[in-house]
Amino acid sequence: MKLSHKGMKISESDWAIFLEHADATMKALQVPVGECEQVVAFVLSLKDDIVEV
Ligand code: HEM
Repeated sequence: MKLSHKGMKISESDWAIFLEHADATMKALQVPVGECEQVVAFVLSLKDDIVEV
């Protein structure tokens, strides 16, 4: 994940927008809350490899 996003200058703001879109998509698709929480936990575990500025 670090290598895929290295040098892209993905910021905290980019990250926050990404999370908002992911949240809206899961709500639109009526993904059960428990599954949403699992997805969010997994995604958050990758943040440090993706956000670099
Ligand atoms: C946990 C969240 C994310 C995951 C699991 C993820 C996963 C990936 C993976 C696996 C690739 C490589 C694709 C390939 O080599 O074929 C990739 C590329 C990329 N990611 Fe992410 N990503 C995440 C978040 C983000 C965010 C937040 C951004 C920007 C706001 C972003 C922007 C990009 C871009 C621009 C590429 C390059 C696409 C390309 O070269 O065609 N990613 N991502």
